[in-house]
Amino acid sequence: MKHQLLVASLGIVALMAANSASADVAKGEALFKKNCAVCHSVKPGEKKIGPNLSGLAGRAAGTQEGFKYSDGFTGVSWDVANMHKFIENPKGMFAKTKMTFPGMKDAAERTDLFEFLGVK
Ligand code: HEC
Repeated sequence: MKHQLLVASLGIVALMAANSASADVAKGEALFKKNCAVCHSVKPGEKKIGPNLSGLAGRAAGTQEGFKYSDGFTGVSWDVANMHKFIENPKGMFAKTKMTFPGMKDAAERTDLFEFLGVK
């Protein structure tokens, strides 16, 4: 049991190391300010015209309390794979979304951005 736990935690550490080697949180913050911050805040409780993005990792889509989402904005949770799919092309994932953002096409930039958002 102890051995299994140790192997599992080593695996996680290795994953984290691999991720932080390729992702740049400072670049991610700059990308957030440039592309997302007009509509989103990462400060808990701060309201803008898009849902608050603090504690985003693992959250189910469409569940920020008090925010009125577009129809059908549900059915996924915000892990890395779904964030790539959504931010690359928001309307490709949710045809009726009211997030009027054309998409971020550069996968490396998206990786930096998600590192800043804590979705890894
Ligand atoms: C023009 C305003 C605007 C911009 C720019 C914008 N968003 Fe959004 N975002 C929204 C709105 C509005 C929603 C709610 C979507 C809906 O209900 O269809 C949303 C939803 C989201 C969600 C889903 C959150 C949840 O609670 O399920 C995520 C994640 C997200 N945006 C991330 C981003 C990121 C990252 C960027 C920058 C690359 C960005 N958005 C740029 C307005 C915007």
